[in-house]
Amino acid sequence: MRKKVVAGNWKLNKTLKEVHDFAENFLSLAKAKELKQSDVMIFAPNIYLDKLKTLFNENAIIIGAQDVSEHEKGAYTGEVSAAMLSSIGITHCIIGHSERRKYHNETHDQLREKLIRLSENKITPVFCCGETLEERNNGNHFNVVRNQIMDSVLSLDKTVYSNIIIAYEPVWAIGTGVNASPEEAQEMHAFIRQLFTDEAGKDFAADLRILYGGSVSPENSAGLFEQNDIDGGLIGGASLKPEALHMILKNSLS
Ligand code: PGA
Repeated sequence: MRKKVVAGNWKLNKTLKEVHDFAENFLSLAKAKELKQSDVMIFAPNIYLDKLKTLFNENAIIIGAQDVSEHEKGAYTGEVSAAMLSSIGITHCIIGHSERRKYHNETHDQLREKLIRLSENKITPVFCCGETLEERNNGNHFNVVRNQIMDSVLSLDKTVYSNIIIAYEPVWAIGTGVNASPEEAQEMHAFIRQLFTDEAGKDFAADLRILYGGSVSPENSAGLFEQNDIDGGLIGGASLKPEALHMILKNSLS
């Protein structure tokens, strides 16, 4: 049985005071038992990672980064390395989010390097993939997702991606309030799992956790999470509100 993941992606949001308020409110809502049953993760701006680790200490909430440098170290102003994340105890990191692909022109090659840096530092990647609306309307969505995964993940040695989590996030569903239907999401998740079955083996694929992201909410999460191949969510907007994230957590418990 794959353990569900409820992962909040805070993006470029929250001041320090808001971080404190969130921690206090979320911890007053979430019961210890709920936090054990699903893996709860919060991907926050780097500046808050250390603080969040302290605030959520002993509560089994995983704190992660939203991106990492493809470089090991050196003259790369503004970058944060996998070794730095690891040195403050960070164990999880998002890579390949569509906003990074779009606004920072991230390429497959860069994502491959990032996967290698994370693996060297024993950090679990949450690798995002997903098609645009145009690509879906053209019937090209399976090809797009296959290429994203083949070119960045499955072209590497299996040891590099051995603990990866995949997040399928159709770009047209991110921040739009329009989520993929449970059936549309399930169809793509099954496709992704089959890809891993073919390329990495049946056992690997059976254990692989594939999250859905794109306008996940308290209202639609139960329907999504009950699909066979949907192992949880990567949640943007709704993860900023403690009550909404807690409702989504509750919907992940079966
Ligand atoms: P959203 O964002 O839930 O606000 O659509 C999801 C994401 O980008 O990870």
